[in-house]
Amino acid sequence: MKLDRLLSVADVERAAARFLPRAVYGFVRGGTEDERTLQANLQAFDAIRFRPRGLAGVAQRSQAVTLWGRRYDSPIGVAPMGVTAICRHDCERALASAATEAGLPFVLSGLSTTPMERIREAAPHFWYQGYLPGDPARIGPLMDRLQHNGVEVLVVTIDTAVGANRENNQRAGFTIPFRASARLVVDGVLHPRWTAQVFLHTLLKDRGIPRFTNVVADPRGFRITEEPQGGFRQGRDRLDWSDLEWMRARWPGRIVLKGVAHPDDARAAVRLGLDGVIVSNHGGRQLDGAEASFDALRAIVPAVPEGFPVMVDGGFRRGTHVLKAIALGARLVFLGRPMLYGATVAGPRGVARVIEILKSEIDRDLALLGCRSLDQLDCTYLAMGDDGPRGPSTGPAVAADPAAGH
Ligand SMILES: Cc1cc2nc3c(=O)[nH]c(=O)nc-3n(C[C@H](O)[C@H](O)[C@H](O)COP(=O)(O)O)c2cc1C
Repeated sequence: MKLDRLLSVADVERAAARFLPRAVYGFVRGGTEDERTLQANLQAFDAIRFRPRGLAGVAQRSQAVTLWGRRYDSPIGVAPMGVTAICRHDCERALASAATEAGLPFVLSGLSTTPMERIREAAPHFWYQGYLPGDPARIGPLMDRLQHNGVEVLVVTIDTAVGANRENNQRAGFTIPFRASARLVVDGVLHPRWTAQVFLHTLLKDRGIPRFTNVVADPRGFRITEEPQGGFRQGRDRLDWSDLEWMRARWPGRIVLKGVAHPDDARAAVRLGLDGVIVSNHGGRQLDGAEASFDALRAIVPAVPEGFPVMVDGGFRRGTHVLKAIALGARLVFLGRPMLYGATVAGPRGVARVIEILKSEIDRDLALLGCRSLDQLDCTYLAMGDDGPRGPSTGPAVAADPAAGH
């Protein structure tokens, strides 16, 4: 695959769609029910346009960002995604290593199949995302394993109390736990490259059915075809603020809530002493009809104290999308599907290509906006459509003497 022919995230998605069986592509691309939230995520950026500035002297630019004392080369990261092994052999390591090499955060999903002990080799500072049950007796030992593996950032997903209604997966015969169905077999036959490079390769090379090795404290986990004792999602619907309070007292590292969609939940996170939130609706894969992440971001940033890290994911496909979120006050923007499509088409090289596309868009857009760094970018660079009568500019002051410094 000639990666330099892929010019945009949309090009990478099209290449991935050709490679993957329909059911697998449907699982990755899809949302829930009528996919209203999935669509809303993609479209929300259009409601706000830029108001760029010129003559800003943008020859020296940086898109670096610092969070909790660690510098990232760009304000983007890899969102946690489970079951990625169905897209590419060794997919999690492809995502982890490409993100790390590009200086970006990588979040390992609890529903992953490469043991975190191996992920650590590729991404020493990986973040871990847990689907946690409301049961301290099960969270505690998992926390011990995470600490043992040097995990500093624990991401707790809060938008999956119960399984979502993903009709497209049901129609395609796709389930988790994974079960072979006649439709899937036909799908595989029609996509021989995937069958050889992913399905057979995984079964032969890894000698057997992949296992969810990071979801519980026991690294043996359970097979992706297996319903573990007590059910796959056991106890998730019991998780509540008291568990988070308990976790705060026990976990010495950072705790980030993912799936925050309401300003009051963000306020509660601040009150509990948590370290950040990721505004998210799970990429439109949980509650259909939830507002777009980008819109929720606008409501949540003003609800928390200045400087409290608000991150976001959902529908980001362009550098301009990322920069609109930064202008609204987001610290980092995570991307899910685009990174996974990159891994699908060419492993770590494909992820690196997606990151390269996004970084170069961000760099160019930053210059066109008239900013040298992300901290210059604020909502004065946005036309919010609610300006009211034109008053004096509230944007950054123009240098008193434009000739000064020449
Ligand atoms: C295939 C797939 C698997 C996902 N698995 C998880 C997961 O295990 N944990 C989680 O918190 N979010 C999961 N998500 C949601 C992502 O973390 C993220 O919120 C979403 O993908 C962002 O939207 P985007 O794909 O439009 O960038 C998954 C998303 C996809 C597409």
